[in-house]
This record gives sequence, structure tokens and C-alpha cells, in this order.
Amino acid sequence: MSDSRPFYVTTPIYYINDAPHLGHAYTTVACDAMARHHRRLGRPVRFQTGTDEHGLKAARSAEKQGITPQELADRNAEAYQACWKILDIDADRFIRTTEADHHAGAQELWRRIAKNDDFYKASYSGPYCVGCETRFTEAQLVDGKCPESPDHSIEILEEENWYFKLGRYADALLKHYEENPDFIAPESKRNEIRSFVEGGLEDLPVSRSSFAWGVPVPDDDQHVMWVWIDALSNYLTGLGYHHDDQALVEQFWPESLHVVGKDISRFHAVFWPAFLMSAGLPLPKQVLAHGFLVKDGAKMSKTSGNIANPVQLADWFGADAVRYFCLREVRLGADGNYSDESVIDRINTDLVNDLGNTLSRVTRLVTSELDGVAPKPPAEEGPLAEVTRQAWAKHLAAMEANQPHDALAAANELISETNKFFVQHEPWKLARDESKKDELARVLHDGAEAVRHATLMFGPAIPGKAREVWSRLGLPDDPVDGSLSEHFEGSGEELGAPLWGFPEGGGPIEHGDPVFPRIDKKAFFKDLAKAEGKDGGKQQQKKKSKKEKPPEELPEGVITIDDFFKVQLRSAKVKTCRKHEKADKLLVLELDDGSGQERTICAGVAAFYAPDELTGKTICVVANLAPRKLRGIPSQGMLLAANYEVDGEERVRVITLPDEVPAGAELR
Ligand code: ME8
Ligand code: MG
Repeated sequence: MSDSRPFYVTTPIYYINDAPHLGHAYTTVACDAMARHHRRLGRPVRFQTGTDEHGLKAARSAEKQGITPQELADRNAEAYQACWKILDIDADRFIRTTEADHHAGAQELWRRIAKNDDFYKASYSGPYCVGCETRFTEAQLVDGKCPESPDHSIEILEEENWYFKLGRYADALLKHYEENPDFIAPESKRNEIRSFVEGGLEDLPVSRSSFAWGVPVPDDDQHVMWVWIDALSNYLTGLGYHHDDQALVEQFWPESLHVVGKDISRFHAVFWPAFLMSAGLPLPKQVLAHGFLVKDGAKMSKTSGNIANPVQLADWFGADAVRYFCLREVRLGADGNYSDESVIDRINTDLVNDLGNTLSRVTRLVTSELDGVAPKPPAEEGPLAEVTRQAWAKHLAAMEANQPHDALAAANELISETNKFFVQHEPWKLARDESKKDELARVLHDGAEAVRHATLMFGPAIPGKAREVWSRLGLPDDPVDGSLSEHFEGSGEELGAPLWGFPEGGGPIEHGDPVFPRIDKKAFFKDLAKAEGKDGGKQQQKKKSKKEKPPEELPEGVITIDDFFKVQLRSAKVKTCRKHEKADKLLVLELDDGSGQERTICAGVAAFYAPDELTGKTICVVANLAPRKLRGIPSQGMLLAANYEVDGEERVRVITLPDEVPAGAELR
């Protein structure tokens, strides 16, 4: 018998404007480890991930790259799938929101909400963050910028929308949080969401009418669904909601666990349950919001450019090293720092020094002293048996609480206790004394058995390496996919105590090259610098300009070349240009600056140019100017123009570049 409770775990579905970065891997690896753990408990498990392919951000990215949104979606959905394959992600379903079945399911959900009279049409005008695909009120903006990601740019949106009567659901949501204290985890997030809802909920615009890249709204061909209502419904449509027999929906839906980054907890813990309540559907069991991987002091994100590429990391260090870092470095819920160095340190410490060395102590002595034959379990249990039982108790409780980080910490503790046990009993000395053969066998048995148990605990996190260790120990079956109950007493739904005693009848224990080779940090960074030097010579350029020391005394007003290079001048294409509604002198320009992100600037040239005179022009902008709000519109930079007088009359001519200059060219 085994545990029969279904387990359904989901990652967010990721935007397809770009390839995955380590932040996306972080969530996905966590879910994968959870799914693998519950599978080997014998539970029916479903693990779903996928891509969120509609919306303005996707449409604009595609336009910039000169391809259709579908082409962009195909390209990056493939990049995600390839990355997950490299990282050994074993998902049951990869959903893409451009699938026809998903459309059908999302539209059914819409119809049910409509039937409940929860939609009305009204026009909307206000700030919109394309990066987050979210509207904000002026009051929510922080210094005129997106409150979630300061490097996303805000634009003013004006269009007709379908509104969802979210305001109606505040009380029902609060009641649900109260009655289901585990609905939102961790607790700090739960409190934050609760106070947000207690502050009152405004109705929510849930359709878009100014572009067409989305799921069509039923019975209204002028509108597509707002990408978030489309995206959230993936969790249901991926189970076959409304387009397949409903067996999976019935089995898994009520058990669903949505693992998400804290950036999108509100969508999952407020909007999504409200949509479901309106549609008369059961709510998910839990929304687990984790923290961010932070690099160079900011949330790792494509917009800030401070990303780590998981495919590259897997190539350098191996897939299991990337997985292990994601799972062990940062507890789900907290933020954690990333650097290449922190990955290397994590691997060298936990896997090379601890697990790897302990394993190799066992394999070396068993091969040299006992011909590779695993010692029989001694008549009396040594101290590591109890240590192992306690480690399992911690490990299993942590996995049940969806905290793989703590579960791995329990495995690390077991290894470190095993190492202490070796240091205390010094089997390498026992081996030199004929009269201590029995004691040597006892010590090696207990050490090997503790490593075997730890390897089982490491299995869902580092499946490839766990299998390698397993085979070094000559053990049969599989430490990852095999049923866990075989290693435990009891046969009921719950696991009993872990079985203590190295199994007899396995193959020989083998000693060979380290399963976890040490990463040479110095050599790694040396090679990296060399490789980067080849990459356009940027590294070298920087070094050179550092060497050019400024003269001791500079004449007043003279700057060094380093001073000049602090100003980033870039070419940009004017995509649209309009009059600022609240300031006669200002024009508002939407620019393509080659970065893939929107850039808006307000320029005081309205007296000299009609808006359409600048549209389509290639201009020069100061790209690293601190943004500021000009009469309600955030301006991110300034354009260069000649200011002069003719016969006492002020004139301004904007500096333009030839059309052939692409957006984002460096000017110097
Ligand atoms: O928000 N640290 O997609 P997205 C940790 N399509 N996790 C990170 C991270 C970081 N620095 N950066 C990203 C969307 N993530 C929507 C979701 S769901 C119905 C729709 C992870 O591509 C984290 O899980 O912006 C975060 O919530 C998610 O990627 C956002 O991915
Ligand atoms: Mg995002």
C-alpha cells in the first residue's frame, strides 16, 4: 500500500518574450523536486509547467524582432523545453496558452463568470506596466515607476475594457483565508495579502481592445482576454478542463499547489480565487510564494540584464549542481544572492567536501580492506542508526511542508554526523590492526549505510548524481524513482521507521574517480575572464581606460575621458510622438532604444515640432539619466538637440542620425 492522496504542483507559466534565466529554473527545480518526492511515496502526482504566450509584452517583443508573436512563442517555448530537459525536469505536462484546448477552457471559464453577472464594460485610463502586464493606479506607482520592477516602464493606457466585479469578493476571500490558514504560504505573505484585501478591492479590467494577440473574449470580437485571466486558467485547462473527460480535473484540481515568485502572489492569491469563486469552481489548496534570486544587488531579471543562464551553468558545472544550488542555497520564501562564486562554493562545500569525501572514505576502505564486499549489518545498532532516523523525520516533514531546502539540510546533517563518526573511530587506523577487523567492519557498515540513506534523501534534488553514488555502492534499483516504502518499515499509508542495515546481495562497492569533482575556482574565473575578453573585448576595454590615470590637476571645466564615458549616449527610434496633455511645451516620445524594453521621454520641443515631424526619426538620447516625472508622465532620459537663436528668436533642432543607424547604437 502506498500514500494515495493526489498531489498537483504547478510552476507559473513563463512569458515567451525571452529564453529562461536562473530565476525561472529556481521555481521549476523546486517543483520538480517536490513532484519526484511525492511520486516515490506512491502518490498520484501531476506536475505542470509551461509558457504564457499572449499579451502586449509578447506582441511588442515579436514586433521588435520582426517576427510574428506565434513565431516568438514557438522559439522560446522550445528554449524553455530544452532548458528543462537539460536540468532533468520531469514534468507531466508542458502547457502553452496558444493551444486550442487552452483557449476553449479559458473561454468556458469566462462564460461561467459572465453567467454569474460578474462582468461589465467601461472605459479605462491609467498607468500600465507592460513588463508586468498590469495596471496600477497613480498612487501605487513609486516615483512614477512600476512598484514591482523599477526598471519596467510605465505607459498610459486608454481603452474600453470588460471589468470583473472583484470588489464583490473581498469578504469571501477574507473568509477563505481565515478558514484555510494554509491557503497562502509563507505566513508573512498571507498577512500581506490579507491586509491588501482588507483595504478594499477595486473592480478589475480583464480584457484588452487595443491589440489582438490573446484569447478572444466569447461573444465580443473587439476584445481579447487580459493575459492574466488567460494565463491563470492554465492550471485548470492543463488538466483537460472543458475539453477532455474531467477525470484529471476531479482528481487533481482540489489538491493543487501553485508555487510562484512573490512578484505574482497577488494574482494567485486574490484574483485567481475570486475568478474561481465567481465561476463556481473549487479553489486551489495552496499558493506558495517564494523570494527572489538577487544578483548584483537587484532581482535577477531580463529587464535589468543581471541574469544567470541556467543552460550555461549546467554546461559548466552539470545539471545537478544547478539544481542543488537552486534548492539548497535559498529557503523558499526568502530572497537569496546569486553569484558564480556562490554556486561554486555551494558545490565544493556540500557535495565535494561533505557528501563526496564521505562516500570516497567508504568506497576506498571497503575496496582496499574488504574486497569491495559490503560489510554485514552488525548485531548491535551503532549510533548512526538513530541519527539516520532523526534525519529522515526532519527530511520527510520538510518535504511534506514543501520545503526542499530544509529537507536537504537534514541530509547534509546526516553526512556531517557520518564524517564525525569516521573521525572519531578512524577506520583508516583500524585497518592497520589485524585484531580490529570486526570493529572496522562495523564502522564501515554504519558509514556506508548512513551514506546510502543520505543518498536517498538527495535523490529528488540531484537525480543524476544520486544514481551515480548508488551504483558506486553496488546497490540495486533506483534511489530516485524507486518506491521509498521499500526502505522503510510498515506497509500502511504512512511510512514506518527507516530500515537500518546495508542490503545484502548487491554488487561490489567500487572506488573510482570522484563522483563530485572539485571545481577549481581560480582556474574557472581565469578561463571565464579569457572567454569574456574574446567576447568583443569589453573586459579589456574597461581595463585600459582604468589605466589612463587623469593628470594630477585638471584646468577648471575640463573632464577626463572617464567622466565623459559616464554619460551613456545611444541612438533610438521614435515609435510614437504625441503632445503632453498637461504641458504645452512637452512632447511625449515612445522610443525603441534597442534594449527590448519601452522607453518614454518627455522633451521640451513642442513649440518647435509637430508630433508627426519626429515620428520615425532616429535620435540621440542620454540613456542613463535618472528618470523623473514630468507633469505625471515618467521621463526616462533626454534627447539631444541644438538650442540657438536667430534674430533674437529661440530655435531648437533635434539632432537626428541617418536611418541606417539601428536603435541602441553607442554614440561617442
Ligand atoms: O510572471 N528569483 O511570467 P515571468 C526567483 N507569465 N524567481 C524568479 C526570478 C528571480 N529573480 N525571476 C523570475 C509571469 N522568477 C507570468 C506568470 S502564471 C499564471 C503567469 C520566477 O516569465 C518566479 O517564479 O515573468 C516568478 O514568479 C516567475 O519566474 C515570473 O515569470
Ligand atoms: Mg516577470
